[in-house]
Amino acid sequence: MSRRITNIAAVAFSILLGSGCQQSASLKPQRAASDRASILLFSDVRGALKPCGCSPDLQRGGVDRVAHYVADVRRSAPNALLLHAGNLLVDEDGVLPGAEAQITRRVQALSEALQIMGTGAVTLGAYDVIQGLDWLEKRLPSLGIPVVLTNAEGPRWAQVVRRTLIVNVDGVKVGVMGLVPERGEGITNPLEAARRASLELRAAGVDTIIVLSSLGLRKAKRLLRKGLDIDIFHAAGQDMKALVSDEVESFGKSYLLQSFIQGGQVGRIDLTVGEGSLAYVETTAVAPKRSSYFRYGLYPIGWDLPQHPEVASVMASYDSELKAINLNASSTLPPLADGQAHYVGVETCLECHDETLSYWNHDKHKTAWDTLVRDNKTYDLECVGCHATGYGKPGGSILSDMKNLQTVQCESCHGPGSLHAEDAEAESISRSVPESVCVTCHNPKHSTRFEYELYKSRVLVPGHGKPLE
Ligand code: HEC
Ligand code: HEC
Ligand code: HEC
Ligand code: HEC
Repeated sequence: MSRRITNIAAVAFSILLGSGCQQSASLKPQRAASDRASILLFSDVRGALKPCGCSPDLQRGGVDRVAHYVADVRRSAPNALLLHAGNLLVDEDGVLPGAEAQITRRVQALSEALQIMGTGAVTLGAYDVIQGLDWLEKRLPSLGIPVVLTNAEGPRWAQVVRRTLIVNVDGVKVGVMGLVPERGEGITNPLEAARRASLELRAAGVDTIIVLSSLGLRKAKRLLRKGLDIDIFHAAGQDMKALVSDEVESFGKSYLLQSFIQGGQVGRIDLTVGEGSLAYVETTAVAPKRSSYFRYGLYPIGWDLPQHPEVASVMASYDSELKAINLNASSTLPPLADGQAHYVGVETCLECHDETLSYWNHDKHKTAWDTLVRDNKTYDLECVGCHATGYGKPGGSILSDMKNLQTVQCESCHGPGSLHAEDAEAESISRSVPESVCVTCHNPKHSTRFEYELYKSRVLVPGHGKPLE
């Protein structure tokens, strides 16, 4: 892997200062190298190398395509600095029980990907911090990427993160901070920490201060309204449902930017350092002659973009190792209680309910497992539970013994049916399927557009909840 951030300019810069050949009393010394820098921002990967793709809203982003975009930008701006804000290693579910080995391997794959991408710095989010220092201490040092977290205090944090970072991008000194919400061991007030750090960074002569924040939009705005001497504030730590704006909002001297989670968008800052404090200039507007300014664009990372081959192969190795990793991590089903029904599979149901056959043959649930086969995800603990029947339930399926319960079958909605298949009584099975059953899978994280009545109407067709014509 090659680090693309050069320090040659920094050397030239200090020589100039040393020889005292400044032309004016300006605080901004003359530069030997350029006064322009490009900075790329993406956010909230949340450990996912690629979003699951369950809903159309989730069919974008992923490190393979972000990497493609970054490589493309670096064709004309070879030293463009890539920064990540928001939750990095895990999402709101943290580490699922039994998935510890998978997550460890996933973090390793993410670290490889970030390195291939030449990521300049990352910060953490609240979900990362909640994992606790014991967990982070095992993972952050091996990331191979500087982790910047400004509002974390104490010797243990100091071992794994740095409070600030100064990166020289084509002669422009960029000061980087990272902020998380004030929660968790050693995490301090973000406003106070940011004020202190910005004084230090200014004293160190940086041209621009960028904050990678994981505070979410509302908290970010509240902080900025209190006044901060920073230039650019990347508000990450947002939810899936957040409506991300490509507008640059100004708060005093600071500018607030956003981007969609999981690399769904990459923001590009083109910075020109001149006199005075930084101004935002729209793409179509004329550039100022002497003053400092930046332009900003937010680029969608659609799945029509090609995948970066090296990153794609990191992801493919991860997927192909999951079988061995997860079959080794032996887990068992909870035991079946006396008189409790177990899952029998759709073929048994169809023996008596052939009226539902035409429904079943056109139901998307029938191909839910094929979806995972196509993506090589049939051994991914973060996928199988919702694309199979009775997963992890008494008398149901588990990776080491899927039985005939692949895909989302009748019993996912009607409940386990062994007793009903024996007695063939209406009373022994549940006809109605309440919303609470659907949302075990159709949750906001995976089914962003779920509406019970609408979705139910799609599964109630002649032969299944409607009379056969
Ligand atoms: C919490 C349950 C859940 C988990 C976990 C889950 N899915 Fe899904 N998946 C769904 C649901 C529900 C849908 C249908 C969403 C809709 O149409 O609203 C879906 C749909 C999909 C689709 C779209 C299929 C199509 O026909 O377009 C893909 C692809 C997919 N999932 C892949 C995955 C992968 C890969 C993973 C693991 C990384 C995963 N899913 C994990 C519940 C889940
Ligand atoms: C041995 C035959 C048989 C098998 C196997 C069978 N059923 Fe039934 N099922 C019936 C009969 C008979 C009824 C009652 C029909 C009626 O009253 O109109 C019924 C009714 C139902 C009802 C409606 C219950 C109600 O309260 O109205 C559902 C839902 C149902 N079955 C689902 C399933 C599912 C799911 C499976 C597979 C796990 C299954 N059945 C397997 C024979 C069977
Ligand atoms: C065990 C998990 C699970 C449960 C429970 C579940 N679903 Fe699904 N559902 C899925 C998955 C997974 C898909 C996507 C399958 C695919 O294409 O890969 C899906 C797809 C759908 C679709 C098709 C969406 C589209 O894009 O056309 C509808 C409609 C739907 N579900 C309705 C429901 C309703 C209504 C309920 C409750 C009555 C329900 N589902 C319960 C997992 C589930
Ligand atoms: C996505 C969830 C879902 C799946 C999968 C599903 N059902 Fe249903 N089923 C429903 C809902 C919802 C109803 C309507 C309940 C009501 O009337 O309130 C229903 C109704 C029924 C009924 C009663 C129909 C009637 O007209 O009286 C039967 C029988 C039945 N389902 C059998 C099956 C069988 C067999 C399968 C598998 C081949 C299956 N269901 C798969 C959700 C599902």
